[in-house]
Parts: sequence; C-alpha cells; structure tokens
Amino acid sequence: MKKMRQKASKLYRARIIHSINADKACEFKDGALVIDSKGKILACGDYQEIKKSEFGKSKVVDKRGQLIIPGLVDCHLHLPQLDLRGKHGATLLGWLEKYIFPAEKAFASLRVADDLAKRFFKKLILNGTTTSAIYTTIHAKSTDHVFKVAKEAGVRAIIGKVMMDQNAPKDLIENTHESLKSSEELCAKWHGAASGRLMYAFTPRFAPTCSEYMLTEIGKLAHEYDAYIQSHIAETLAENKFVSERFPDYKDYTAVYEENGCLGPKTILGHAIHLNDDEMQRLAIRKARIAHCPTSNFFLKSGRMPIEKIEEHGITYGLGTDVGAGTSMSIFTTMRHADYIQPNITVTPVKAFYLATLGGAKTLSLSQLIGNFESGKAADFCVVDIRNIDPRYKLSELNLDEVLSLLMYRGSGGLVEESYVEGKKLDVDHLKIKGE
Ligand code: GUN
Ligand code: ZN
Repeated sequence: MKKMRQKASKLYRARIIHSINADKACEFKDGALVIDSKGKILACGDYQEIKKSEFGKSKVVDKRGQLIIPGLVDCHLHLPQLDLRGKHGATLLGWLEKYIFPAEKAFASLRVADDLAKRFFKKLILNGTTTSAIYTTIHAKSTDHVFKVAKEAGVRAIIGKVMMDQNAPKDLIENTHESLKSSEELCAKWHGAASGRLMYAFTPRFAPTCSEYMLTEIGKLAHEYDAYIQSHIAETLAENKFVSERFPDYKDYTAVYEENGCLGPKTILGHAIHLNDDEMQRLAIRKARIAHCPTSNFFLKSGRMPIEKIEEHGITYGLGTDVGAGTSMSIFTTMRHADYIQPNITVTPVKAFYLATLGGAKTLSLSQLIGNFESGKAADFCVVDIRNIDPRYKLSELNLDEVLSLLMYRGSGGLVEESYVEGKKLDVDHLKIKGE
C-alpha cells in the first residue's frame, strides 16, 4: 500500500518558502514538496532528509534554481471589470456611474461573459493566483457560465452573482425575489462543486444598493447553505454619508449588515477604511473578515485602511486586488502597496507574504486546506523565477528576507512560471480565447 502511494507521488525539488504566521516564514534552500496522486501534500522539507524518508522513492521534478511558494490568494476582485482598469477621473460613486455600471450591463451577453471569463482566469493563473473571491454582475446566466469557465480552468474560487435591488441604474436593478431565487439556485448548483474547489458567495454589492429585506434573506440563505457573503464596507466617506442618509435607523454602516444577519466568519468585506472603533469591535466579535485592497484605494483615493486598529481588534484580513479599481491583477503589486499606503507603519516582506498566502486563506476560512505546505493540505502552489526580474539575480545568493523583499517590491506576474491547484498544473492554453 505504502509503495503504491510512493510510486504515484511526485517530489518537486526547488527552493521552497512558505508562511508559518504573520512574523515567520519557513524556507528550505534545497527543498522538497511531496504530493500524492490526489494533489494532497504528503511532506515538505529538506530534499536530502526527504530522500531518506518514506517519500524518497517519489518521482522527482527538478525545479532547482527556481522558487516554490504557496498559490497566491486574492480575497476581492470583480471579473467583469477586467478591461476597466485604469479609467481615471472619478471618486468611487462617480466611477461606478460613469464606467462600471455601463460595462456591467454588457455582461448580460453570454458571449461577452465567455470572452471576459476566459481572459480573466488566464490572467489569474499567469499571475500565480490560485484562489480568489470573485464578483460577477447581477446576471445569473453569465455567472453560471463564469463557474463553468472556472471549473475548466482548474482554479479554486469563491464566486457570486452581484445583488442589487435599489439605487442602481434601471437595467441593473433586480426584483428582490428574483435576485434571491437565482442566487440560491446558483448556490445550490455550485457551492462545493468541482470536488470543493468552487464555492458560492451571496454578493450584495454594498449596503446602498440593497434593501433590508434582501439583506435579511441573504443572511438566512448563507447560513442555510454554509456559503459565503461578500460585500463592500466603508470604502469612502461619501459612501458612508449615503448609507447614513438611506439607513437612518441604524447607528452606523456596520449595523446595516449586522442587524440583518449578514456578519459571520464567512463574510468577506472589501476595504473597511472608514470605520469607527465600535464597528471594528463588532466586526471582530462576529468574526467577519476584511479584504484589504490598497491598490484600489490608491487609485480611487479612498483613504487608508487603519491596519494597526484592524489588528488591535483582532480582525482577520487578507489582500484583494479589487480589479478593476485595482489596476493590477498581481498580488505581488498589492503586497507592496499594502506597505506604501501606511505612512507610519511598515508592512514587512514576511508579513506581506503571509497576507498574500496563509493570511488570505484564513480570511477566506480555507486555511485548513490551503495557504502553506503543511502535510494534508491541497498542493496549491506556484513556481517563481526571480531571474525574470533580472537575469543576473541568483536565488542561491539571496537570503530569505532578500527573496521575500524582491517578491514584494519588484514582483509581478512576469515572475510566475507555473501555477498548480491540487498538484495539477493549470494550463492556460486550453482556455481558448477567440481572436487571440
Ligand atoms: N463598491 C460597490 N461596488 C464597487 C465596485 O465595483 N468597486 C469598488 N471598488 N467599490 C465598490
Ligand atoms: Zn470591489
């Protein structure tokens, strides 16, 4: 039995770095990552040690000179906004009106959805992002199609159809019951699909576009299906003002989600910039998670997430590109922006690496399964070559801090050679894209 398992297993030999916690990363300069035929991690350690162990007979895949890290985790991004990156000239609410809502209308077309979804997943894979939490639009059929493309692409993803039943343009406002019904159907079909790789998130866009009734029903549905809820919170002061005017009976923004049953460990809230201490404390009590999106916050001049207070309150958070307000699909870019956006705090490379991997997994309640290379977890990883930054870089000449620093401050999708989910290499070429 043991022999059969060994025979079928693969051993990736490379420099290996993974995260232990926000202050500690672990590395094996000549490392081995052993994966069974089902894509589970059997062992991770020093190559010579592993060679002597029960896994020594595994088939070796030689990646020396390259680096293996856990697959990157993007906790917040919008698939239909892929081509809207870099449309300058507006604050959040103006930007939504001017660029985003018109483009999201076009996503009603399956042809548009197909083209965007294939290019989107291809780019995610090329950027080393193996797990992500994705918004689509209000369109159920197009969302169903996005799930199909995600399944074919082989990625791990939490995906949700946007829900809006008020304060949106005419063509994007849904009938509340239809929105709930079609979201529930998508959840029933896709939550846990593809052997658990695909998951569903009820996706009320943000409080301004959602009725209290809809939020309450979303809370119940998410609970019933043990599914996610993803939304935005306190991204800009103008949005906060809008919420306080439209929801005068609630003491603050957080209360709109809280009192309608939308806060829990599987709630992922984008931004969380303009919250007071009491709100942060209540988010922490409910164990709600935050997707920190600094690239987007720079672009829309939304402000700075107060990382020190979020941490003081013990709120779990990870990184999100927030494409399309986020201009880059690369989590490496988000890592450096997480540091740049804090004038008085340093987000170290070790911490940024944690946020991009294990911290992201915790944010998505998936750290039992992914985020680092503990035995038993799924083998989601990417192969990175720092010579893609500059051919003169030699991995063996750099210490751990220097490598993480390079990834953070000079990293991009260009570094990533290969991405794997459950031990399976993701093949971007089979995502055939018309016109390419
Ligand atoms: N708030 C509500 N919708 C959106 C969106 O699409 N992008 C961003 N950045 N914030 C939002
Ligand atoms: Zn967003």
